[in-house]
Amino acid sequence: MIPLFDLTRQYERIRGEILNAVDKVISSGRVILGPNVESLEKEIANFVGVGYGVGVASGSDALLIALRAMGVGKGDTVVTTPYTFFATASAPYRLNARVMFIDVEKDTFNMDLDQLEWVLKKEKVKAVIPVHLFGRTMDLEALSFLRERYNVKILEDCAQSIGSEWKFSNGEIKRSGSVGDAAVFSFFPTKNLGTYGDGGMIVTNDEEIAQKSRFLRVHGAKKKYFHDEVGYNSRLDEIHAAILKVKFKYLEKWIEERVRVARSYQKYFEEKKLPVEYPKVEERGYKYHVFHQYVILFEDEITRDRVKEGLSRRGVQTAIYYPLPLHLQVCFKDLGYKEGDFPVAESLSKRSLALPMFPEMKDEEIEEVVNTLELFL
Ligand SMILES: Cc1ncc(COP(=O)(O)O)c(C=O)c1O
Repeated sequence: MIPLFDLTRQYERIRGEILNAVDKVISSGRVILGPNVESLEKEIANFVGVGYGVGVASGSDALLIALRAMGVGKGDTVVTTPYTFFATASAPYRLNARVMFIDVEKDTFNMDLDQLEWVLKKEKVKAVIPVHLFGRTMDLEALSFLRERYNVKILEDCAQSIGSEWKFSNGEIKRSGSVGDAAVFSFFPTKNLGTYGDGGMIVTNDEEIAQKSRFLRVHGAKKKYFHDEVGYNSRLDEIHAAILKVKFKYLEKWIEERVRVARSYQKYFEEKKLPVEYPKVEERGYKYHVFHQYVILFEDEITRDRVKEGLSRRGVQTAIYYPLPLHLQVCFKDLGYKEGDFPVAESLSKRSLALPMFPEMKDEEIEEVVNTLELFL
């Protein structure tokens, strides 16, 4: 069997360190909002290149809390794409904001910034949530430009992109999460930096957003038991922070290993000349793509589904991200969108397939995935 993602192989590499870290937390008796959370917040904020980090219970909560801290509320227009994980759009929806979708680019699967600019020119938009989907960095320079030119708030969804980078025209390299008013990370187990449970973080350069997020995560209480606002119970646990601190040391190495896996897929795809589109590793000299997922495209839905079924019978796990674009979800019916509104997102949903991708993947396994795929094409 070749799994889509294998947490157990990673655990074998770091088992001693993880058990030691967990033991230390439990032995200390301090398990909620303690030194590990504080230190991880500093490490991640530093890594991204911003001033503050606020650990919360999940990436989904991070989106919700950050939006509220940025002042998004009832009736505000929030723009995002329909080709992302549900939480990106459910967060503004839960705050009674008006969720507006725009399509993605067919080559990067990320938000089409020309369409965004067109919308910003004619609509009053409070915030934009761009997603660095599958680990590929959006054009951070263009994002920065739009943020300033149209005075719009940007919340970067970096749930899949921790460690990814963009080179500006002045030569400066910045990480995803560093140009928005705030950014969010998810530490869901399968993420490039994941814990053994749920966790998330908001990062920002804005002290007010950081402070507001800090009290929203503890029921809106600046002072314990005195509530200025109705907030949430959404804290990153000490145990998870301690685990993440261990794993964080390996993040860059694991990203390099993911890129190695992507290069290897590319080599086999090139050799076989199969009728699929696969992501190319662009040798840019910086981490443009951190390959959270390795997603290929088939000609049509029938071929995709047939190959997926065949791979599954041969023990190769795959996944479809995402089978139904968000504008067509039943729960978002009231937003008034219909089939045909976002042709790129709709086409990608029908044609995409994520192949096994994790740092410990062996070259024989990658070759086997491609050989099996060829069989069913
Ligand atoms: C793009 C994106 N946004 C938000 C989330 C939500 O993160 P979490 O699962 O930690 O709530 C995820 C992950 O699942 C994601 O992939």
